[in-house]
Amino acid sequence: MLRRVPHSLRRALVSSASTHHGRAQIPNPSHSPPQALLPQWRRYASIASSAPPQPPSPPRGPSRPGGGAPSVSSLNPAEVAKFAAIAETWWDSNGPFKPLHLMNPTRLSFIRSTLCRYFRRDPYSSKPLKGLKVIDVGCGGGILSEPLARMGATVTAIDAVDKNIKIASIHAASDPTTASIEYCCTTAEELVKEKRMFDAVISLEVIEHVANPLEFCESLSALAVPNGATVVSTINRSMRAYATAIVAAEYILGWLPKGTHEWSKLVTPEELALMLQKASVSVEEMAGFVYNPLNGEWSLSDDISVNYIAFGVKKSGTPSTDGAEARLP
Ligand SMILES: C[S@@+](CC[C@H](N)C(=O)[O-])C[C@H]1O[C@@H](n2cnc3c(N)ncnc32)[C@H](O)[C@@H]1O
Repeated sequence: MLRRVPHSLRRALVSSASTHHGRAQIPNPSHSPPQALLPQWRRYASIASSAPPQPPSPPRGPSRPGGGAPSVSSLNPAEVAKFAAIAETWWDSNGPFKPLHLMNPTRLSFIRSTLCRYFRRDPYSSKPLKGLKVIDVGCGGGILSEPLARMGATVTAIDAVDKNIKIASIHAASDPTTASIEYCCTTAEELVKEKRMFDAVISLEVIEHVANPLEFCESLSALAVPNGATVVSTINRSMRAYATAIVAAEYILGWLPKGTHEWSKLVTPEELALMLQKASVSVEEMAGFVYNPLNGEWSLSDDISVNYIAFGVKKSGTPSTDGAEARLP
């Protein structure tokens, strides 16, 4: 049985895309990112009409996303335990996090391009994110947080696993350009309670591990100032993702420990966009990551059928807890 995106959802996606279509395009051609940085990013508006083939309905039923009993925490103890068990291996580029290490330059390319375009920064400058307050939610050992700090961002990085935070802090402390990262073992919802807010909220490869993805999106949104940016990456719940990201990566190639990803917990691009939209974040751009087995490299692509990343903007009408707002020059 094919699982289709209901018509009403497609309409919601299209209308969301057209309502916010202009926001991500900064009208300053001199600051447009070079093709080399972001070769084939796609406008979000085209997603609704070119959705990847949908997989069979996941076992947890059609109430996903956002359905189910509300949880008070994004923590899924079983998922957190999986990461605690391999925390020591974060900086082993041939260990279980090898795929993330390999993907990192490509993820950073998307982040640099979208944030520079949105915040009107020069992507060629040595510190293009200087002055921006950025949070990395579910930072693991800090493999993304560190390059963000090197790009000049003031980085706060949080993770639910204490061991991850200890390893990340020790690693960052060895380099003066990353020693200023504020690491903390906590969750997004805890920081929301503390009324912390950021210009950009980034959470890569985490949403598929949380207890309730919609509530997680709401927490991410609450952490962003009005007009702030949000970047989320994850794995599509498609048959191709099942075959490659789960069967091949975990069971054939042994890239990841078996059971790292549960197919039913994966989130499709449409679901992610709708959850973010419900949380007042309008998705403006999306790109896929594709792996080239010949050279072992990842690149950005229009193909969002397996790994993908989304950039969104928090609607300006959304009340801020401290009156802050994203600083667009
Ligand atoms: C696949 S790793 C991704 C790490 C990092 N974002 C990256 O891409 O390099 C997922 C991380 O999310 C963390 N995590 C899982 N659930 C979380 C939650 N509810 N709140 C914060 N962190 C969480 C895990 O401990 C783990 O470090």
